[in-house]
Amino acid sequence: MGAVKEPLRALEWVGGADGHLRLLDQTRLPGCVEAIECRDVDSLWDAIRMLRVRGAPAIGVAASYGLVLGLARAVHLEPDAFLERMRELSSRLRACRPTGVNLFACLDRLEAAARQQSGSARRKHAALLDAARALEAENAAACEAMARYGAERILDGWGVLTHCNTGPLATAGAGTALGVLVHAHRQGKRIRVYACETRPLLQGARITTLELRNAGLDVVLLCDSAAAQVMAEGRVQAAVVGADRIAANGDVANKIGTLGLAVNAAARGIPFYVVAPIATIDPALPSGSAIPIEERDPGEVTELCGGRIAPADVPVYNPAFDVTPHGHVTAIVTEAGVLEPPYGAAIRRALQSRTAN
Ligand code: MRU
Repeated sequence: MGAVKEPLRALEWVGGADGHLRLLDQTRLPGCVEAIECRDVDSLWDAIRMLRVRGAPAIGVAASYGLVLGLARAVHLEPDAFLERMRELSSRLRACRPTGVNLFACLDRLEAAARQQSGSARRKHAALLDAARALEAENAAACEAMARYGAERILDGWGVLTHCNTGPLATAGAGTALGVLVHAHRQGKRIRVYACETRPLLQGARITTLELRNAGLDVVLLCDSAAAQVMAEGRVQAAVVGADRIAANGDVANKIGTLGLAVNAAARGIPFYVVAPIATIDPALPSGSAIPIEERDPGEVTELCGGRIAPADVPVYNPAFDVTPHGHVTAIVTEAGVLEPPYGAAIRRALQSRTAN
C-alpha cells in the first residue's frame, strides 16, 4: 500500500455561463490520466456513450452540464424558442444511456428550473447552470452521508466483495459503495476489498483498484468468475455494490454480474448491501422487470485491449446491466438512512422525507 493520493475527479465545470465541461477520460485508465474538454453537446454525447464519463450519478451531472453547454448560444432566442430548443437537446441527451435513472431525474430538474425562471432566455440559461451546480453539490453531500451510514455495517477484519466502479469517478463526490469502504478504512477498520474485474469493459480492474489503492485500501482483484469460489472459501463477510436504478419494490439494476453475486451471497448467508442516493430510486416503476436494460456493442465482448478474442461472426448478447430481486438485498444505504425490508414501505417513507425537506 502506497501513500494516500487525492481522488481523481470525474468532471469539472470550467468557467461561468459560457464555460465548458472537463471530463477525465475513463476509457484510458489506469495507464493514462487525461482530461477531455467538452465544448459542445456532440462531444459530451460521445463521451457518455463511450463511457469516458460513466456511473449513474456522474452521467446525470455530466448531462446536466451538457444541457447548459448546448444552450449557451440560444440565449438570444425568445423564451419560448429557448424552451423548445431545451426540450430537443434534453431528449437527445436522454437517449445516451437507458438504464441509470439519474440521467432522467437530473434533466427533469434542469428543465423544471428553466421553466420556472420567468424572464429572458439568458436568465433561463443561468437557472440551468445554477441547477446543474446544485445537483453536483447534492450528489457530493449524498455520497458523504451514504459513506457514514454504510460504514456502520462494515466490521473490522472483514473481507468485502464489490463489483464495477462506484467511486469518485462514478459520482460527483466520494462514491457510493466505494465511498462506504473508504470511510470504513478511515475509521481504522482493517478490511480487504475483493474487486471483480467487471467484464466486458473492466471498470473494476481499471478504475476500482486504482481508486482503492489511491485511498490506501487493501484491494485484491478477481476475475468475475472467481467471485463464487472466493465466497465459498469464506473470505468474504459482506458484498457492497452500487445501483443504476432501483424500482419501487427495491429491485436493483446494477452492472452486469451483480445478480450472480447476489444469488451466491444469499446462498451463503453473506449480507448484500446496495449503496445509492435517493435519486437512483425510480418510484414510477413497480418492479425491476420494467427497468430498461442497455444492450451494448458486440465488439465490447469479442475484442479485448484492441485484439479480437472470438471469431468475427459469432453472435453476441451484451446486456450492460442486470436486475437483482429485492429478496437478495440485505439493505439499501441512502443519504436518508439505511432502508430495510419491506422495501416498498421503506422507499415510500424515504421519498416522502425528501419531499418534506
Ligand atoms: O456502465 P457503467 O460503468 O456506467 O456502470 C456503472 C455501474 O454499474 C455502477 O455500479 C453504478 O453506476 C452505480 S455506482 C455509482
